[in-house]
Amino acid sequence: MPEEKLLISTLRGQHTPIPPLWLMRQAGRYLPEYRALRAKAKSFLDFCYTPKIAAEVTLQPIRRFHFDAAIIFSDILVIPDAMGQKVSFETGSGPKLDPITSAEEINQLGSFDLEKLSPVFEALELVKAALPPDVTLIGFCGAPWTVASYMIAGHGTPDQAPARLFAFQHPQAFERLIERLIDASVKYLIRQIDAGAEVLQIFDSWAGVLPAHEFQSWSAGPIGRIIAAVKAQRPHTPIIAFVRGADTQLPQLTTTLAADAYGLDTAIDPAWAVANTDSSVVLQGNLDPLALVAGGPALEREIDGVLNAFTGRRHIFNLGHGILQQTPIEHVEKLVSLVRQKQV
Ligand code: CP3
Repeated sequence: MPEEKLLISTLRGQHTPIPPLWLMRQAGRYLPEYRALRAKAKSFLDFCYTPKIAAEVTLQPIRRFHFDAAIIFSDILVIPDAMGQKVSFETGSGPKLDPITSAEEINQLGSFDLEKLSPVFEALELVKAALPPDVTLIGFCGAPWTVASYMIAGHGTPDQAPARLFAFQHPQAFERLIERLIDASVKYLIRQIDAGAEVLQIFDSWAGVLPAHEFQSWSAGPIGRIIAAVKAQRPHTPIIAFVRGADTQLPQLTTTLAADAYGLDTAIDPAWAVANTDSSVVLQGNLDPLALVAGGPALEREIDGVLNAFTGRRHIFNLGHGILQQTPIEHVEKLVSLVRQKQV
């Protein structure tokens, strides 16, 4: 038997002297080799749906930094695309969808066409075949609340006010949308496992804007149902829940979601998270992406702070949110060498 990969060992509850390391959004515009390929693509979705390119871009950060995991290159908004909603990405202004403004429009959404996402599954197969044997392949989806918030607003907003308002005004229609997203996400994640994903991450990037009751209904509840449904069919695949802005609800999440690890965002105090969750809970995070942009003494201090906060705890080193486009490559190299020097 080959030794288990570092990320998988940690997710299975083993204590490893050096934490596994990967970065959210590690494939992307901070890499010149990404920008070179991206410049040739017609559109961002074409880029995601061309298996050879998606596989190549997934592997780029692994070649450079030898992270412990590769995350398949795609986007959380491929699910609305596969439901027939018009989705595009405009350089500089982010995603654009045809917004959903009435309850009827939710009934009019098409059925989820899983086969439309077959390029993602092909890309997973290509990456799996090319990956160094010690690197874990991560599949992902957006959580229903975050995906719904883009489907309703039609674009990114600072507080997801359009979706929050819609959910108050049309609770039943919103609930139907969430149900459809749960169902689609489960099917999509299972196919990703079957195509080679060894670990899954669910991104709820916008959970933090919800009041407590809505957080339960639209963020935690649906994520819990996705995890339960995937685990019922594929019990051995570890799942990481990244519920950004969970804040004081984190301890409760860790006792109700049945995820294998919980991602911490930048704002949460890791020492508080460690003290307020059971010692068996695996935590991921949470270096400030801006410290990685800044570099120098600030970066060294922040990396030390994260490593020290998790000493003695099962920990996956990551950022508290996605890597920023202006991040210098040398700072990522510095991060990799500092994290890998750690001995507990
Ligand atoms: O992590 C990885 O390397 C895998 C690829 C990945 C992308 N998006 C590629 C991408 C992942 C995991 C995502 C997740 C995603 N997409 C989230 C959740 C994580 C988070 O950051 O909160 C969200 C909210 C989205 C929606 C989305 N896609 C936005 C808001 C944007 C525009 C903002 C931006 O970063 O440009 C995108 C576009 C996008 N998705 C890009 C990339 C590399 C940039 C597009 C380009 O190259 O032109």
